[in-house]
Amino acid sequence: AKCAVVIVAAGSGQRLGQGVPKARVLLGGEPMLVHTVRGVVRSGIASQICIAVPAEDAAMEQICTKLVGEFGSKTDLQWSIVAGGADRAESVRAALSVLASDITTVLIHDAARPLTPAGVFDRVSHALRDGAKAVIPALAVVDTIKTVVPAGLPGTGAGVEKVSGTPARSRLRAIQTPQGFDVDTLRRAHEHAQSLDAASAALITDDAMLVEALGEDVYVVQGSTHSLKVTTPTDLLLAEAMLAGPLR
Ligand code: C5P
Repeated sequence: AKCAVVIVAAGSGQRLGQGVPKARVLLGGEPMLVHTVRGVVRSGIASQICIAVPAEDAAMEQICTKLVGEFGSKTDLQWSIVAGGADRAESVRAALSVLASDITTVLIHDAARPLTPAGVFDRVSHALRDGAKAVIPALAVVDTIKTVVPAGLPGTGAGVEKVSGTPARSRLRAIQTPQGFDVDTLRRAHEHAQSLDAASAALITDDAMLVEALGEDVYVVQGSTHSLKVTTPTDLLLAEAMLAGPLR
């Protein structure tokens, strides 16, 4: 079974507020994407690595060229760089369109998770080998999670939110990447997603939910606190500390 790893790196990184696409934000003096790609190569599971980058981003292309050079001697590894799309799912679809024909499983990984340990890649790929068509890494949540709806305060009508429900915390999981799939299953899921209206498409935040919509079982393996998604300036601080210190 041949495995491709897709790294989606075409996001804008607005929430990080550094004015450059997130995958280019520096971590330990190097672009975040460099750490993410090294982690994927180190896992040793990929026969193809496909990176979806922002369209017409010369700096990002340069980073990718350098990365391919760094690992170019690994001749059994095929590299593909594609222009991403307007949303994450479109970026994934762009990557799926260039996978080699002998690929049977695919892992979709956020560029924004630069410190994912090899063990997470291993657990995901083992579950695929054991017959899962979809598998995702997860952590138990520490916060109590509530759903909310828009509301007005009783006295003033001031626009706030109010609680509409509290799911049992013991059954909630925070989902990470890499998310692993049988390649045909993921292709079907994304084809199905293309028929969604804009409002539904805007609610797509990971690949597994598209596979769930097909009625396929999505299996869960243990994630890692080191696999955090660098989204806010606080996350960046934490990632710097993990990279530098004994936390790693
Ligand atoms: O926005 P969010 O944090 O969910 O993004 C998760 C990952 O998806 C990031 O690594 C980002 O670069 C990627 N992405 C993408 N194309 C987009 C939007 C996000 O590749 N249009």
